[in-house]
Amino acid sequence: MSEVVDLTGPDPERSDDRVTEAAVLSPEDHELDIALRPRSLAEFVGQDRVKEQLAVLLQAARERVEPVDHLLFSGPPGLGKTTLAQIVAHEMSAGFQPTSGPALERPSDLAAILTNLGEGDVLFVDEVHRMPRSVEEVLYPALEDFSLDVVLGKGPTARSIRLDLPRFTLIGATTRPGRITLPLRERFGFSPRLDYYDVDDLEQIVLRSAGILQVGADADGAHEIARRSRGTPRIANRLLRRVRDVAEVRHDGRVTGDIARSGLAVFEVDELGLDRLDHAVLDVLIEKFSGGPIGLTTLAAAVGEEPDTVEDVVEPYLIQLGFIQRTPRGRLATERAYAHVGRAPRGRLPI
Ligand SMILES: Nc1ncnc2c1ncn2[C@@H]1O[C@H](COP(=O)(O)OP(=O)(O)O)[C@@H](O)[C@H]1O
Ligand SMILES: [Mg+2]
Repeated sequence: MSEVVDLTGPDPERSDDRVTEAAVLSPEDHELDIALRPRSLAEFVGQDRVKEQLAVLLQAARERVEPVDHLLFSGPPGLGKTTLAQIVAHEMSAGFQPTSGPALERPSDLAAILTNLGEGDVLFVDEVHRMPRSVEEVLYPALEDFSLDVVLGKGPTARSIRLDLPRFTLIGATTRPGRITLPLRERFGFSPRLDYYDVDDLEQIVLRSAGILQVGADADGAHEIARRSRGTPRIANRLLRRVRDVAEVRHDGRVTGDIARSGLAVFEVDELGLDRLDHAVLDVLIEKFSGGPIGLTTLAAAVGEEPDTVEDVVEPYLIQLGFIQRTPRGRLATERAYAHVGRAPRGRLPI
C-alpha cells in the first residue's frame, strides 16, 4: 500500500526554513566550499575504499544505462558528503536537485520536487534524518516503483491518481545514520560512511586548495595546517584561508610551516586542531563538572551552543581523540583530556 499525497497546496504562512549546513556555515565557508569542491571521483582525495566502491557502482549503472541505486552518505560535517553527491550526478551526466530534510515539511513539498525531476536525475536530500515521517512515507513508493499517488481536489469530488515518475537516484546525506528509520535505510542500495581523513590526505587537500586559491604553500606549511584540521577537509580549507591572511598581512604571502604555526596560534587553534569551542567543552567538563558525567543538554547550555552542534560537530572528534566518552550517565572527560589541557584528573596529584 502506498501513501497518498494531498496536493491541496502549500500553506502560505509557512516559512521556508532550510536549516541546512548553509545556515550553520559562514558565508565565506559556503563560497569556499563551492569553489574548492572536487568535480570528479579522481579529484576527490582520500576515502579510497568508498571511491572504489562508488566507481564500480557508477560504471555498472552507466553500462546498463540505468540510474545509480539510491545512496546514503553518512559522517560528520565537512567530510565530503555533498561533494560526493555532486560528483555522482556529474559522473552520470545527470541533473542535480538539492533539498534537505527540514525543507520538506509536507508531502506536497516532496511531490513538487519529484514531479519536476528529469530522467536519471540525482535528488539530493541533505540531513535526510530530519525529514518528517509523513514525507518519508510518500518517498517509499517513489523509491521503489518510481510512482506517486496523489489526491486531486477535496471532499466528495476528490479523486486519486497515480503518477509515474522518471527513474531517479536519491542520495541522502546524514550526520546521524542512527536516526534514520529502518524502512528508509533499507531502501538505499549502498550506504557508505565517511571517516575522518588522515594527515597525508588533508595535506594533499590543502595543497590542491592552495593551488586553486593561488596561495604559495610549501609542504611544511600544508602539513602544519593538515594536522590541525580535525580530520576534516572543510576545516583544512578554512585554516588555509586564515593562515593565508596572516601570511599576507605579516609576511610575504607564502604559507610556510612557521607561518602556519604562528598563524594558527593567532586564531586559537591548538596543536591538535582543537579550537575555542572544543576547549570550552573540555573546560566545562573538567573545571565546572569535575570530569563528568554530565548530560548533553547541560553541557551544551554551559558552552552556549545547540545540543545538536555539540553532538554532531564537537563530540565526534573529541571521542576519536579519546578525550571524552559517552556513557549512559552522560559525558565523561578522560585522562588524556586532562593531560591535554594540562590538568590533573580528579583525585590525583599533578605529575
Ligand atoms: N575528499 C575531498 N577532497 C578534496 N576536497 C574535499 C574532499 N571532501 C571535502 N572536500 C572539501 O570540503 C568541503 C566540504 O565538503 P562537503 O561535501 O560540503 O562536506 P559535507 O557535505 O560532508 O558537510 C568542500 O568544499 C570540499 O572542497
Ligand atoms: Mg553537505
